[in-house]
Parts: sequence; structure tokens; C-alpha cells
Amino acid sequence: MLKSPMNYIGGKYKLLSQILPLFPSDIHTFVDLFAGGLDIAINIHSDYIICNDINHYLIGMYVEMQHMNIDALLRRIHFTINEFALSKTNREGYIALRNRFNAEHDNIDLFLLICYGFNHQLRFNNNGEFNNPFGINRSSYNEKIENNLIAWHPYLQQMHFVATDFRNIDLQNLGPRDFVYADPPYLISCGSYNDGKRGFEGWREQDDLDLFTLLDQLDDRGVRFALSNVIEHKGTINTHLNDWRRRYHTHFLNANYANSSYQYIDKTANTKEVLITNY
Ligand SMILES: C[S@@+](CC[C@H](N)C(=O)[O-])C[C@H]1O[C@@H](n2cnc3c(N)ncnc32)[C@H](O)[C@@H]1O
Repeated sequence: MLKSPMNYIGGKYKLLSQILPLFPSDIHTFVDLFAGGLDIAINIHSDYIICNDINHYLIGMYVEMQHMNIDALLRRIHFTINEFALSKTNREGYIALRNRFNAEHDNIDLFLLICYGFNHQLRFNNNGEFNNPFGINRSSYNEKIENNLIAWHPYLQQMHFVATDFRNIDLQNLGPRDFVYADPPYLISCGSYNDGKRGFEGWREQDDLDLFTLLDQLDDRGVRFALSNVIEHKGTINTHLNDWRRRYHTHFLNANYANSSYQYIDKTANTKEVLITNY
């Protein structure tokens, strides 16, 4: 299984071995409504892959990487690392790069900010400026990330990227041979994209309800879907989700986040992570 070089908050790499066997094996068009770090999409076999995320900076970065050949991409990454003397300890270099990104919005600068930023977070303030602090002594562009990037890059070529709210994506042409995967922010266990309006909309109860409606509509048309979510976290239950899921199939996953960087999920909390499918 391929690992995305993004180390994305809420990324599904650790759950891939449990999730992928629950997916259909015959997929014509695969749509990832909340593609994030692409951990799922790069591991899918399908004729046509559509990856959507509301974060247009993230999608813009993937599109640029898709159009660069890997040698040019690596040269550019190493050039910028030297230019700003980026390292695990050089906070000033990181801040200078962050200032340049906020002025010029260069996509590869953004990739490096994610590599060197605290917990690899993609975090923006209300003015749309990238504001993740430096990941001192922990985060860097390293050999592991480079190897993941090299293995991952060819798979970008087969993807079609969209940057919009999940409610706006056109799914009218989908039919029974197609498959929609939804991995939204979880209402009761928040990632940093979900703790208010940091340049992007937060995630609220109404968003959950709108997503359930969209998935019900797909089900009415015979389109297969799978939804990742958390039913219970630290004693809080997502009651709408818990009611809605009863008309479909719920697969309980073993969400062992110990040793992971996804700190927003408390390792000791009783977290019931599920995959809900209509097939
Ligand atoms: C849990 S993450 C997805 C992680 C992804 N499955 C992976 O493995 O890396 C949720 C994603 O939903 C995106 N998002 C949040 N609100 C959205 C919306 N209204 N429409 C589309 N995407 C949204 C966030 O930017 C974030 O990347």
C-alpha cells in the first residue's frame, strides 16, 4: 500500500488495510469527495478517479505536481530547502518561506511548509493566510517523505482534481458501476481544518445532515458509497449519524492511533471509528 508524502491530519493510511477490503473490487468511476492527503485515492484501482477537496490550495498543489516530472519536482524542492536553509531547527527559514507563500501562493512552497510545519498541518487564518507554526525538532522533508513522494507521484497522473464544497460536485452521471467515498471532518473529533473557520468553512451538524442527504440520493439511484466516520468519541455520540446509519451496513474498525501523529484523537479515548456502506 502506498503512503502519501503529505502525512495529512485525518489521513487514512493506518486504516487502509481495514478499509480497502470493504470496498467494491469493480469500480468504473471512483469519487473521493474529501480527498485530503490522497491516502485512499492512490490505493484505488478504477478506470477513472475524481478527487475533490474544498481546500483549493491543496488541490492546486496536486495539480502542479501532476504536471511536473519527478526530477523537476525534486530539483525544485531541494532548491527551496537550500534557498531558505530549511531544517528541523531553523525557525526563521520556515517563517521566511511562510511569508513568501502568503505573498505569492507558490504550490511547492506550500508542500514544504506542510513538511516542516507543526504536525504537518494545513492551517489557515481567517484572512486565508497559512499560519501553521514551525514543527521544531520534529517535522522536516526527509528521506522517508522523499521516497513516499517518488512512489506516489506516478499515481497523481490518473487523477482528475476538483476543489469545491461536496454539495457542489456534479454526481449526476454516476451509476451502479461507480463508487463514492466520503471521509469528511468528523463532527465529534476535530482535525485542525475543523476547529472553526480557519480560512475554510468549519464542519457543523448541518454539514453532516447535508452529506447524509446526498448519500441517500446516491443510494436511491443505485450508486454505491462508503462513509468513514466516528460514532462515539470520549463519551460523546454523534446521534444523527447513529440514527442514519441503521438503514445501511456499519463496519466497526480498530482505530488504534497509538504512536500516530494524529494528536487530535486522544489515544485513550473510546473512539468508535466506522465505515458505513450501502452495499
Ligand atoms: C478527514 S479529511 C480527509 C482525509 C483523506 N481521506 C486522507 O486519507 O488523507 C477531510 C477533508 O475534508 C475537507 N473538507 C472539509 N469541508 C469540506 C467540504 N465542505 N467539502 C469538501 N471538502 C471538505 C478538508 O479540507 C479535509 O481535507
